[in-house]
Amino acid sequence: MKLIQITDTHLVGPGLRLYGLDPRARLDAAVADINHHHADAELVIVTGDLTHWGEVDAYRNFRAAMRPLRIPYAVLVGNHDRRGPCLDVLAAAPRDAHGFVQGWRDTPAGRLVFLDTLDETSHGGQLCDRRLAWLRQTLAETPADRPLYLFMHHPPFAVGVDMMDRIALADSAALIAVIKPARARVRHLFFGHVHRPIAGSWLGIPFSTLRGTNHQVCFDLAPGAPHLTTHEPPAYAVVLIGETEVVVHTHDYLDDSPRFPFSKPDLDDRTYMLGPFPALGRPGK
Ligand SMILES: [Fe+2]
Repeated sequence: MKLIQITDTHLVGPGLRLYGLDPRARLDAAVADINHHHADAELVIVTGDLTHWGEVDAYRNFRAAMRPLRIPYAVLVGNHDRRGPCLDVLAAAPRDAHGFVQGWRDTPAGRLVFLDTLDETSHGGQLCDRRLAWLRQTLAETPADRPLYLFMHHPPFAVGVDMMDRIALADSAALIAVIKPARARVRHLFFGHVHRPIAGSWLGIPFSTLRGTNHQVCFDLAPGAPHLTTHEPPAYAVVLIGETEVVVHTHDYLDDSPRFPFSKPDLDDRTYMLGPFPALGRPGK
């Protein structure tokens, strides 16, 4: 099964730019690329910071950009979002009984669980008692043989980029306590927020995140490093899920560097091909 992750689209009003870039044009390009190459995906998940200022116009702009998408999508909220306008404008936003942007979706590969870590008073993340209770119940009610995949905006741990770690999820200990009973069934954690390509594991759960579709966060691991944005290339992730593996590709969809065969380098005349490539099984099948 194939999933697509997009994150941190940071849309503003139509025609407006952000940090010298056009967020709508960049999301349009991602949607076109996904339609062209990955129309067989089960779902696209946009892991928060859909808009930059949380304005109704920006959510309408986001909705318009996503309209041509040939596969269904779901959205999460991030620290730059506002719940009210998001829920008013986007039918793709899940909603729990308390009005948080939370929900789950069953797929052939298992249950996808979408969490709302937005604290509308801060850029840091929060999971209050009501949201954690919803997660506890959702995990408890998921059939024991069904794998779980978690999606959230804020990482529940430090990634080593100082200014982002200051606005990570607060009180991750409470989340850990809720997840622990189901930890063995959680096959992957996907998040956004940090605008960087990062992979690893947390509590033994593999995780990944990726660059946003507009601006990025400067890679600087020095303590107290300034909070700088960059124009590193945007990406989306293609997730291939099989019986035994979860494979996460990140694709720089605006890359236009040259493509050429491995077998015919221009610079020397040595033979690079050692023989025919053996047939391989495909991940996600
Ligand atoms: Fe963001």
